[in-house]
Amino acid sequence: MRDLITFDEENKVFHLHNKDISYLMSIEDGKTLSHLYFGKRVNGYHNQLRYPRVDRGFSGNLPGSLDRTFSRDSLPKEYSTSGEMDYRTPSAIVRNPDGSNALFLKYQDYSIANGKPDLKNLPHSWVKDDNEAQTLTIKLVDEVSKLEFDLLYTIYRDYPIIARSVLVKNNGDDSIYLEKASSMQVDFVDRDFETITLPGAHANERHMQRQRINQGVHVYGSRRGASSHQMNPFIALVDKDTDEFQGDAYGFAFVYSGNHAIEVEKDQFNQTRLNIGINDYNFNWKLEKGAEFQTPEVIMTYSSKGLNKMSQNFHKLIHDRIIRSKYKDQVRPILVNNWEATYFDFNEEKLKPIVDDAKKLGIEMFVLDDGWFGHRDDDNSSLGDWKVFKKKFPNGLGHFADYVHKQGLKFGLWFEPEMISYDSDLYKNHPDYLMHVPGRKPSPSRNQYILDLGRKEVRDNIYDQMVKILDSVDIDYIKWDMNRHISDVFEHDLPSERQGESYHRYILGVYDLMNRFTINYPNILIEGCSGGGGRFDAGMAYYTPQIWASDNSDAIARLTIQYGTSLVYPQSMMTSHVSVSPNEQNGRITPFDTRGAVAMWGDLGYELDLTKMSEEDSQKVKEQVKDYKAIRQVTQYGDLYRLKNPKYGNQAAWMVVSPNQDEAVVTWVQILSYAQNYLTKTKLAGLDPKKHYKDLATGEIYGGDELMEMGIYDPVIHKDFASKMYHFKAVD
Ligand code: DGJ
Repeated sequence: MRDLITFDEENKVFHLHNKDISYLMSIEDGKTLSHLYFGKRVNGYHNQLRYPRVDRGFSGNLPGSLDRTFSRDSLPKEYSTSGEMDYRTPSAIVRNPDGSNALFLKYQDYSIANGKPDLKNLPHSWVKDDNEAQTLTIKLVDEVSKLEFDLLYTIYRDYPIIARSVLVKNNGDDSIYLEKASSMQVDFVDRDFETITLPGAHANERHMQRQRINQGVHVYGSRRGASSHQMNPFIALVDKDTDEFQGDAYGFAFVYSGNHAIEVEKDQFNQTRLNIGINDYNFNWKLEKGAEFQTPEVIMTYSSKGLNKMSQNFHKLIHDRIIRSKYKDQVRPILVNNWEATYFDFNEEKLKPIVDDAKKLGIEMFVLDDGWFGHRDDDNSSLGDWKVFKKKFPNGLGHFADYVHKQGLKFGLWFEPEMISYDSDLYKNHPDYLMHVPGRKPSPSRNQYILDLGRKEVRDNIYDQMVKILDSVDIDYIKWDMNRHISDVFEHDLPSERQGESYHRYILGVYDLMNRFTINYPNILIEGCSGGGGRFDAGMAYYTPQIWASDNSDAIARLTIQYGTSLVYPQSMMTSHVSVSPNEQNGRITPFDTRGAVAMWGDLGYELDLTKMSEEDSQKVKEQVKDYKAIRQVTQYGDLYRLKNPKYGNQAAWMVVSPNQDEAVVTWVQILSYAQNYLTKTKLAGLDPKKHYKDLATGEIYGGDELMEMGIYDPVIHKDFASKMYHFKAVD
């Protein structure tokens, strides 16, 4: 049954639709696949609202045709290529055996299937059964080179989401080089969009940035070998007056963790093109006769109700249909991590009292961070040697893990599987495993180097070492870290003409390694990390259901970081810890309650030495842990509503509502305190206007409509960085 995708044979129009969205394409002259519409659902298409034909100066027309009104340079398209006189940003660039980049893609065929095919070796959104989505494959072919581009579109029945990717097949007789292969393109006519992107830096990730689009090309991307702290692989196109709860918001998230490019071009006619894919920087993929190249996937959504709904669409899809871990629906354990408590200066005897205190405070897991292996006392050595450091654990790691378990806590362990130190046995035995260009000295970063993970032999070595630990020590959780970006890109096993594949092969290697752990150790909860949130993307979600959001654990800095993160990623994916004050990263002094309130936005943990806390703070941890256990089902898995953006004001506020609208948790944070301050209110959202809600702290009852329409007066607190949390439950 083709109820989600239809093809109008007569007018040659494809229509993908569910109850919320429509996506329309048509086959135009010259078998050109043209874009017609993406947005709110329309019931049908009467073949009237076509793109007008106009004779455009200096534009290419169809070969062999005298029709000057068919303008290749302005027609909205689904996938444009180099060499076809469409001078806007192309989706694909090839290098043919004759050295030319000619590529003219013509529509050839289509198929519609129930369900969604898996993307080989790549993370992707998936279906539970074939009834919940349909996939359209449109075959575009270059008649001369016989190169085929299969454009894949999956539309979900119950999520306003379309997943797109491209499978390139070389059906010709010669090898060709793919110099660019975007995962998707979409063209908009007569839209004066603004972009919302998430740039940042280490310890300062994912700040919402909103910009007008002017004529020209704007590229938001990463060339760092990782999706990066610097530019998250996401973009929203919004109207000028779109806010959290009203207006059009188109969201695009790349399900990929390596180099990416998000290109937005506003052309000479004020039309907007968006291309998303692997960054073409240092990308050059040799496609031999008969070979295929699968691009990563983009998930795209549309909301007519502003940004908040766009985010909820992403949250649901990523949580329900990208994350695979068995922990995806389980409340996440409250942990204590020894990194900011001890850094490298620890041993079993020093850690045991932290474990003892964690138990007393109700914490559920102890995570042993960096420094437990090789002979690592600082960050200059031992990466690649995944054997216990006997000086710190004279009785073995298993002995310590048993101690943790006997206290009733789970045990987690840190690894950095993608790295190698010069000072390591791995380097001594396999110097060629270190990624470097022959004859050149590789650049250090944090005194460490990258493993050449494109090679299976290297991955096998690391996997075997890690498995020895996992099979001999009772481990419940892994923190998978990556503390530098890639340089000296070169894959030892590849011939010179294939070195342009190295960046992508590196990421495919990381995915292969991660996949082995997710499949072979399904009971281990894996947390992703890359110096905080340097690889916080939808691709990683496929392997790691939670990710350390930032190395910046200051509650006030975290407000903007977490706000930005929440644009795309569900809160259960975001880990957030209470740390010491003054904060180790920026020296800010914040109240303990506010540190707890902000950390409770995500999966709560503690990143401090529990043995060195005042009695008062210990008591606070105990209360926070108890309170969090009572709300975490809602806060981790409920629907998020952003109420006040700290980037644009002196306050932050957000809330989470249970799916049945019976329970809600609201958090409000004041940044600076002012004398004789204005009175402000926070209007809630997402409640049932007809229900009555009890504030569990005061026992006061409010109507859902009152809370949403009249709003709560914010407290007047003459203290910087003050906060307040409310927990509401519906009453009869
Ligand atoms: C970076 C992480 O984000 C930190 O939490 C910690 O694990 C360090 N790496 C350890 O090197």
